[in-house]
Amino acid sequence: MNYIGIDLGGTNIKGALVSAEGEILKEHSIPTRVDLGPEAVAERIGQVIAQLFDGECAVGGVGVGCPGTVDDASGIVRFAANLNFVNFDLRSALRAHTALPIHLGNDANAAALGEALFGCGRGAESTIVVTLGTGVGGGVVLGGKLLTGYTGAASEIGHMVIAENGEECTCGSRGCFEAYSSATALIRDTKRAMAAHPESLLHAVAAEHGGVDGRTAFLARERGDEAGTQVVEDYIEHLTCGLTNLVNIFFPEVLALSGGVANQGDALLLPLRERVRERSFGSRYAVSHTRIELCTLGYRAGVIGAAMLARE
Ligand code: BGC
Repeated sequence: MNYIGIDLGGTNIKGALVSAEGEILKEHSIPTRVDLGPEAVAERIGQVIAQLFDGECAVGGVGVGCPGTVDDASGIVRFAANLNFVNFDLRSALRAHTALPIHLGNDANAAALGEALFGCGRGAESTIVVTLGTGVGGGVVLGGKLLTGYTGAASEIGHMVIAENGEECTCGSRGCFEAYSSATALIRDTKRAMAAHPESLLHAVAAEHGGVDGRTAFLARERGDEAGTQVVEDYIEHLTCGLTNLVNIFFPEVLALSGGVANQGDALLLPLRERVRERSFGSRYAVSHTRIELCTLGYRAGVIGAAMLARE
């Protein structure tokens, strides 16, 4: 049996036809067009499903990974800030476009399930995935099962508070992990450093790459720039704090990073491994430690994991 996985993002709707063994058989993506409103977005998801479901093979269902609080039992997306969905009955809206059974879940939860089953967490007892993109998302897979919590709202890792009365977050709260460790936060901090340090190489690096992005501070640091080094250092410290909290709560076998910022690879992983281990509870006496890794499936984790929501 095959399944359709949809990764619904603020920018694109990515879809794939996936085998029960996690192999992608066909892919199709289109822009989300959040500006058109929730019903139109549901219709566009229907278009992607239609492209993937040509009746040639048996399809057991559709799984949709969506940012925010997603309640699979009722089919309602309670709150997805970057899609402008508030109490949107996504399953009913999708019913108009497909007769296949529809399963819903959080986007980062789906990615975590994909990685746990077929990527960096394959064979591990437990896996946590943290996505460092526009927002910070996360999923916890314990003993092969996704932790969804009451009404599906668990694992909002990005909204764990790491600084009391800290930076404002898009969710309306303050001091969230996302407000320090997302690519958005990294860009904000890079721009602040540029304003405070007109002499910094950050300006030249940004100009060479067509503007400030998540790489700017890392590139400036490579050239020995002081302001860039400080931005990266602060970023890694905040990430260390959030990841240490996750290790202390779950002690997963694998803790893996994905999303744009994770492309920094060893520049992130090496200091994180050292610092998170140093600061985790009882680490001096532990016989085994959480392995901090990079995810291996890239964007495919989202669609494969979403398809697995339908398989499960
Ligand atoms: C949302 C999460 C989502 C993550 C990545 C966060 O802002 O709260 O639900 O998984 O962004 O899209």
